Amino acid sequence: METISVIGAGTIGSAISVSLNRAGYHVIATRRRPDLNKALVGYGIEVTSDNIYAVRSSEISILTLKPADLISEVRKLSKFLSGKIVISMAAAVPIRVISGLLPDSFIVRSMTNIAAEVNAGYTPFCTAETDEEKISLVRRVLGVFGETDQVDEKYMDALTALSGSGPAYILTIIEAMMYGGLKVGLPRSIALKASYQTVMGSAKLLAVSGDHPSAIKEKVITPGGVTIDGIYELENGKIRTSIMKAIESSTIKARRISKDLFPEETEK
Ligand SMILES: NC(=O)c1ccc[n+]([C@@H]2O[C@H](COP(=O)([O-])OP(=O)(O)OC[C@H]3O[C@@H](n4cnc5c(N)ncnc54)[C@H](OP(=O)(O)O)[C@@H]3O)[C@@H](O)[C@H]2O)c1
Repeated sequence: METISVIGAGTIGSAISVSLNRAGYHVIATRRRPDLNKALVGYGIEVTSDNIYAVRSSEISILTLKPADLISEVRKLSKFLSGKIVISMAAAVPIRVISGLLPDSFIVRSMTNIAAEVNAGYTPFCTAETDEEKISLVRRVLGVFGETDQVDEKYMDALTALSGSGPAYILTIIEAMMYGGLKVGLPRSIALKASYQTVMGSAKLLAVSGDHPSAIKEKVITPGGVTIDGIYELENGKIRTSIMKAIESSTIKARRISKDLFPEETEK
């Protein structure tokens, strides 16, 4: 059984630990207060505060620390991460910063989302490494979390905003749909299920058909029918502009964090 360490098992680290454990990996998850992660132990995940033990016991380490914690911790672990695959999930931390601290490790920068816990995330990654065998291994591990793509690093801040933060936007939409259902008298449980199932079904239809969203949307909008009145209200409320602005603002924030933390890298 392959061992993977997850360093900084808070929200996202716990989600991916559960997913990796379910896929058959032996997972060692760390945090400074491991007692707060008792739930992971129930899954058969090893939970410890000993980062050195965790990285020494595994060929692959996934870092799910906040950007500032990541830098200080990687410095301490550099000797033990030498020669190993290190996947950073931290927002806004460029590959060059990590590889500067870990010159002898195989560095990957990635960004998953919370749906990784149920194998339905989107996990783009980038790397400056070229060893195809190791890249395939990384693909296999990240594939546990759902869909994955290798991308250019210049897209990572935008993907952090779109798919990393994306569940928060979609859940806001689902909540609004549910409230709409409550406003017209649906029972709460039916309103919620009708909302999330509709989002899931629409996404699946897109993924399976490969069609453009508009093509499917047009099939639902009958001339003079019910849907066009709802669409008219959405357009009036500028829903598309709002969502585009949300992703743009979030991307700008990711770039600003990166610039504030690593000015010498972002000016290159
Ligand atoms: N949340 C998301 O949906 C999401 C999605 C994709 C990527 N990310 C990225 O993942 C990173 C973490 O985000 P998060 O939301 O999961 O934050 P979080 O819940 O605060 O998790 C970070 C964890 O790191 C632990 N930690 C801090 N210093 C440590 C150390 N020296 N050794 C071991 N553990 C340590 C903290 O626990 P203790 O205080 O107990 O040590 C904390 O539980 C960020 O860089 C974020 O950009 C988050």
